[in-house]
Amino acid sequence: MHRRSFLAGATALWLPSMARAQAPLAAQPFGLGVASGQPSATSLVLWTRLMAEEPWETPAGVLPVRWEIAEDEGLRKIVRSGEAIAEARWAHTLHVEVEGLQPGRPYWYRFTVQGKASPVGRTRTAPDARARVPALRFALASCQQYEQGYYAALRHMAAEALDAVLFVGDYIYDISWGRDLVRRHDGGRPTVLGEFRERYALYKSDRDLQAAHAAHPWIVTWDDHEVTDDYTGDISPADPDPARFLAQRAAAYQAFWEHMPLPNAMQPRGPSMRLHGRHRFGDLAELHVLDDRQYRSHHACRATLTRGKILTGCEERLDPARTMLGAEQEAWFADGMRRASARWNLVVQQTLMAEADRGQNGQHAYWADGWDGYPAARARLLDAVASSPARDTLVLGGDVHSFWAADLEREKAIVATEFVGGSITSQGPAEARVKALLARNPHLRYGRTGINGYGLVTLDPKSAQVAFRTVQSVKDVNSPISTLARFAVEPGRPGVQGA
Ligand SMILES: [Fe+2]
Repeated sequence: MHRRSFLAGATALWLPSMARAQAPLAAQPFGLGVASGQPSATSLVLWTRLMAEEPWETPAGVLPVRWEIAEDEGLRKIVRSGEAIAEARWAHTLHVEVEGLQPGRPYWYRFTVQGKASPVGRTRTAPDARARVPALRFALASCQQYEQGYYAALRHMAAEALDAVLFVGDYIYDISWGRDLVRRHDGGRPTVLGEFRERYALYKSDRDLQAAHAAHPWIVTWDDHEVTDDYTGDISPADPDPARFLAQRAAAYQAFWEHMPLPNAMQPRGPSMRLHGRHRFGDLAELHVLDDRQYRSHHACRATLTRGKILTGCEERLDPARTMLGAEQEAWFADGMRRASARWNLVVQQTLMAEADRGQNGQHAYWADGWDGYPAARARLLDAVASSPARDTLVLGGDVHSFWAADLEREKAIVATEFVGGSITSQGPAEARVKALLARNPHLRYGRTGINGYGLVTLDPKSAQVAFRTVQSVKDVNSPISTLARFAVEPGRPGVQGA
């Protein structure tokens, strides 16, 4: 990392040993596509990365890149433009913060470097906070293990009419795993910045992922695999040394920031990066995007936890001091719930929130890495939801590689409705396990595994509708899409309808 940071400030051609890393731009320098994100009523972030011919090469020098954003697809009515600087320090990624835009309308944008233009991306601002908004639509996606399938689902997502894509984690995978792989990671488990950058470059070389980015603004959070499987705060199951793991986390967070359409203010500082935030979409919706990885307590009963991470009879699990969000984010969330005033609150977070007891024969058993490992933190979060003046809250999640609809309860009352939007490609649990969970947990109203896709959340003042969209097979790059299930939620009446 030091070597790279050192190189960043200088053009560094005087270091002969690094000459190979100082390559000219690729014939198609925008080979990883374009993206946009963090839509507000008047602003957006536009993203791209300049590439040399090979993903492990760094383009030479500090490169000025022109950007333009227009009101029309043909880019004739340019409303803002400027020059941004791509530099090796940030892997020649650009995060252009465009301001002064009109609310609730589409825009088209592109970049140009050395006479070469990028593909044109389409994006969309959020409606003004005071606007009466008749309808909104979001896609809910997560978990796109590159080796386990093609991204046909993302190509179909690109074709949907959306206000934004909500991506809730496992954008890349640190590890290779699973059956019947269709393609392979190059390299092993990334631990340093250059390796994380190459992993993002590999994922982003996929044309269907590029299409989904080029079609809609994305609002993102992360889960564990952007750093390492099942990490909790500063502890990695793969590395017992917290100092060494924090150096890896710093590299992973930097690479995540570099490759996402996030603003400059979110740049990580060492191993810390503030990712949680709120997004307002007129009078109809407010999104509360959470980070449940960076600040969480370590796994309960960690010393005795085995590979499946199932807890039985662990008193520590119930400790009220255990946190999922950390004290600061938890207070920030409660404050947001107190002040919420949109028709719908959307809690955009990583994993299944509803209790999922896996016990048998009168025993209770819980998965340590999910919300079930942090029940006191979950109760506090749901108390904040229940006390919100905005009565209608949907909790949206991913991580478990299966589709779920659930009633979220507090003291036997349903306080919110939860939907987990499957996985783009990542392989899910066995069907028998999902059936057992459904049988044992009546508030889990729907569960389905062995199929991949995303959720489609459509909001209007009279209802929230959720459709689970699934591809026939992730092994087929041209797989068609269809709707697996549909649900509805009525305002003032939390809970799943249509299960
Ligand atoms: Fe995942």
